[in-house]
Amino acid sequence: MYTWNDDYSVNVSVCDKEHQKLFRLMDELAGSINNVKSELLAHTIYELISYASEHFTNEEQLMEINDYPALEQHKKDHDKFKERIQDFVVKFSDDNEALANEVLEYLRNWFVNHIIGVDKKYGPYLNERGIT
Ligand code: FEO
Repeated sequence: MYTWNDDYSVNVSVCDKEHQKLFRLMDELAGSINNVKSELLAHTIYELISYASEHFTNEEQLMEINDYPALEQHKKDHDKFKERIQDFVVKFSDDNEALANEVLEYLRNWFVNHIIGVDKKYGPYLNERGIT
């Protein structure tokens, strides 16, 4: 199970909601792999990657309009993720279950580490500016 829990909260509701959706998509991806529904698998991977990109844009805009001091480093982390995930996309084909498992493992580790180690830092900064 790929479940968001309160430990992952950044205390900014719009970001928590987007992170929750990312976890739901990872859970769907895990289900697609287990059921070997290859079309659904490819669809879910692309949906997840696309939603992650959308989330990064929203999060970066929120930090930017609030002059968040660590924005540039945070953007670099997002960019590194996008580059890495692009490598997976290039290699991926519908019937590549092993690669799908690798992608999923990478996504889960990356999001858990990034949310806890990087995203959580903007919470108090934004909270002080009235964003919760
Ligand atoms: Fe929620 Fe920095 O990604």
